[in-house]
Amino acid sequence: MQSNGLNKANIAIFISGKGSNLKNLIYHSKKQNTKYQISLIVSNNPKAEGLKYSKQFNIKKKIINYKKIKIVEKNLIKKLEKEKIKLICLAGFMKILSRNFIKKFKGKIINIHPSLLPKYKGLNTHAKVINNKEKYSGCTVHFVNHKLDAGKIILQKRIKVLKKDSPKTLAKRILLQEHTLYPKALKKVLINL
Ligand code: GRF
Repeated sequence: MQSNGLNKANIAIFISGKGSNLKNLIYHSKKQNTKYQISLIVSNNPKAEGLKYSKQFNIKKKIINYKKIKIVEKNLIKKLEKEKIKLICLAGFMKILSRNFIKKFKGKIINIHPSLLPKYKGLNTHAKVINNKEKYSGCTVHFVNHKLDAGKIILQKRIKVLKKDSPKTLAKRILLQEHTLYPKALKKVLINL
């Protein structure tokens, strides 16, 4: 039976690019007995490929312009409040949110990062992992605080780095794991919200 969404938590997903995690979370949200729905897609990039899921799944979208970030975040906060957003999921969102914004949604912003945090924060994680001949890598879902990729860890998945791995093949295998990890982490967070 389809739920009318009345008692489901509203989630906003922030993206900048492809949006495979977004698409995956949308699919999960439509499964029976899920306690959330994706109510808003936010992107700093008007050309983000993932924005197509707004039309495809009839989900509201908001494009934000980082050049006017102070005004934009003010409006964004209003929008998130209007849509009664309970949790913000960053999924390939390539901008840093302001301290003020993070404070406003303390404990209500989570992110997925393609490494075993606290190792390999920031960009180019897969190349660094391979260069350093790490045996394992993986992905992490964590709470967002004002330090980059440093908030409390919610869940992690570890995989073996193969001898033949390039940054591209490793990224691909980790992304597959992300698609299992993010819905699990989201469920875990929502139970405690
Ligand atoms: C993922 O690897 C995520 O961990 C990182 O950016 C990538 C986004 O991929 N933060 P997609 O846009 O969800 O396909």
